[in-house]
Formats: sequence, C-alpha cells, structure tokens
Amino acid sequence: MRVEYSKVSSHIIEQLREIAGADNVSASQDDLERYSRDEMPVSEPHPPELIVKPVDTTAVAQILNLANENHIPVTPRGAGTGVVGGCIPIYGGIVLSLERMNQILEIDEDNFVAVVEPGVILADLYQAAEEHGLYYPLYPGESTASLGGNIATNAGGMRAVKYGVTRHFVLGLEAVLPTGEVVNTGGKFVKSSTGYDLTQLIVGSEGTLAVVTKIILRLISPPKRSEVLLIPFARLEDAIRSVPQILKQRVLPVGLEFMERDIVHIAEKYVDKEIPFHDCEAFLLIIVEGDSEEEILGASSVIADVCKNNGAIETYVPSSERAKRDLMETRGRFYPAAKSTGPLDAADIVVPRSMIPKFVGQVKEISQQHQIPMVAYGHAGDGNVHVHPLSHGIDEEQWRTNVPQVLKNVYQAGAALGGMVSGEHGIGFDKKAYLGTSLDEDIIALMKRVKKAFDPNNILNPGKLFDLE
Ligand code: LAC
Ligand code: ZN
Repeated sequence: MRVEYSKVSSHIIEQLREIAGADNVSASQDDLERYSRDEMPVSEPHPPELIVKPVDTTAVAQILNLANENHIPVTPRGAGTGVVGGCIPIYGGIVLSLERMNQILEIDEDNFVAVVEPGVILADLYQAAEEHGLYYPLYPGESTASLGGNIATNAGGMRAVKYGVTRHFVLGLEAVLPTGEVVNTGGKFVKSSTGYDLTQLIVGSEGTLAVVTKIILRLISPPKRSEVLLIPFARLEDAIRSVPQILKQRVLPVGLEFMERDIVHIAEKYVDKEIPFHDCEAFLLIIVEGDSEEEILGASSVIADVCKNNGAIETYVPSSERAKRDLMETRGRFYPAAKSTGPLDAADIVVPRSMIPKFVGQVKEISQQHQIPMVAYGHAGDGNVHVHPLSHGIDEEQWRTNVPQVLKNVYQAGAALGGMVSGEHGIGFDKKAYLGTSLDEDIIALMKRVKKAFDPNNILNPGKLFDLE
C-alpha cells in the first residue's frame, strides 16, 4: 500500500493555526532543526515541514483528521530522548509534539493511580508521586523523558528486575486514532477481562497506531530503604556468570546491571567523576530494596557470597547518599558518554536471562572476528544487554562498512538464544532492517494488518517498525 503524501500547503497551515492556536504552530529554522532528530546515534537530519504543539485532545483529534483527509504524514513526539529515530519525521509532514500537554491531572491516593498527559516528564511524575507518599518505580535512566515516549517504546530501565517495564504500570489510555476518533481504553482498575486489551496493544506501538493523550498509571507504596552494591571482578566472565546464580537465590534485586571497564572509563571522562575500583575488568551494580536494615543486609550478604564464590574482588557499598547518587548518575550517562566518542551504533538485545553469559561471550567473539571494538553493559538481571560497536581508534570508512554485518551477527546470536532485537528502545527506523532476525514473517504480516486497521491511510508515524508494501 503506497500512499502519495501531500505537502503541507499554506491553506493547511492556516487551518492548523486555527485548530491549535497560532503560537502552537512553528516552522522556524531552529525548530525544523531541533525536530529533525532524536538521540539516535547515526542519522542524517530529517526536518518536518511544520511542528504543531497542541494543548488539548480536541486539537489533536482535529489535526489528525485534517492530516488523514489530506494524506499528510504525522510523526508524534514526546521529549525526543528516544534512541532509534522513532520520532524522526522521515517523510516530512507534521511533527505532532505533545510537549505542551504536560499536566499531571490527578494523583488518586485511594486507587494508587496517577492520571497524566503524555508530555509529563518522569522527573515531575516522581516528585508528584512522592508528595503524595506514593512511588512510580520505573527508572529508564533519563528523567527528562516523557511518559508518552515511555509508552511508545514500552521503556524499561534499571529497576525492571523487580518491577517490570512501563506496560506493567499502564492501566488505561485516552488516545486519538489516525482518523481523528478519540478512544478510551482500560481505567482505574487493576484487572479486566473485558475484550481485547487495546491499552497494551498501544503501549510499545511506537506511535504507529494512535496518539496517546491521557495516561492512567499505577503507583505503589515507596520502599522504606534501598541500597546500591558495586561489585568489581577481575574477569568479565566471572561477573556475568554470577548473574543467573544471584537470580536463583531467594532475593529479588530491584536492578542488576553489569558493565565493562571500557564503558566505565568513557563515562568517567564524560561526567568527570571516578568510580571506585575503576580499573577492574567488569562490575555488577545491584540495587536492593527492603523494609528494614536487616532485610537489606540479608539480601546483600547472599549476593556478596555468590559473587565472592565467582571471584569478586569486593562488595563495595557507597558510604553516603551522595556517593550512591554519583554512582547511579555515572551509570545513567553511559549512553551519551559512548555517543561522545564518535560515530556509534547501539544494540539493545534481550535474551532469556539464563543465556546472558553465553550471549556476552558471543558478542566478544564477533567483535574479535570483525576487528570492531564492542563494549557491552546493561540490564543483565532482566536479560537486556546494550552493545555499542565503537569507532574510536579505527578507520571511519571501514567502521561504517562493517558495522551493519557485525550488528546482524549480534542480532542473530541473540535470536538463536531465544531473544529479541529490542528489550526497551524499540525499533523506530534504526532497527527496521533487523526486525526479521527475531520475528517470523507471518507475525510481521499480522502486525501490518493491525496497523492498517488503525491507520488505513498510513499517515501516523510512517516508516517506523516496518514499511508497508
Ligand atoms: C541505558 C540506556 C541506553 O541503559 O537504555 O543506559
Ligand atoms: Zn537501557
């Protein structure tokens, strides 16, 4: 299904100014540049023709209706912190930025629920929940990310071992279909057996099915205490084989991250802070929570014992809140730090967590075979590994030529171990070429039929996830 897209004519611009308010429509050079990219590492800029920043659902519905009638592509956008080009307008047209729909509409203490607009950023949700004695536990690492964007990619992050990912906290949505109809799914309840779960179909659909305009989120009680353990190892394989062994114990860490020396050094330089034991080959970074000091100590000592048996050098517990924060912040900056080293690509594979040691070993072999340095880190406790082929120190031309094949091998290795292309970043347009390494053709065909049911004219975020024929 090929649709010839129309350009955004001056007549359409006039109508959009009326719908959204003239102040919420822009084609300034600055905005065209800013909305032409996200945090995807290797990408040419793709400027839109126009940016519209509606402030309410009615405007979103009217904009989509107008775009649908006129076959104009619309690319929804949150805070632009995605890393796979999900909000880059590759066909031009309109960028529909939800940044001005940023109200926290309600914190409902009786139902442990927050109702928010999609442009609300994580930092503001954390704070609002805290002010009501409640807690939104997901921590994708970038607190300026918007909740709408988190929903688009089904963001995960560093606390997924215990709490799961964004979809586990989304109870309902208000969303606008590409044809302009407003739909409500789910509600302020934690169970439902009432028809297809369209809430969860829209979560993770990367803005290809509907534009989310309101979100009902589950909140929980905050943990009483939490602690961070940094466990250095002399050998990467000792660190990584500890992961499934820790998970087999009767302690459930909130997060269980691994990292290699190279990424630690890159990040230290980037944030100008030092990590203790920073010259060791590999580390586990483990977050534990509990209701009492004893609970934390108990869990920590079980974890420390497993690691010691696997050759850990130490179990380091930061002695102050500040040291803890520094450690977590340094970990949180790994991605921009890696990006600052030069051209970069990023893989975000998830495998069954028992396969983590095997998978990381295979990544190292592929790296050696192709002579492309690859640094790995990430959410080992939930099987989600980030792999960056780095370009520093090698010929850029050679790097650009070889990396697609290197990544293909990495994705195939992940799929052969029962994994998927993306654990949390999404496919966007960066990973489209690799989708087939982990999804069968009939599944991709079924997804395309779902897409057509929502978006018959293929105007909403076209060219993302897959291309329609
Ligand atoms: C992280 C991002 C890249 O884990 O997902 O730092
Ligand atoms: Zn991550």
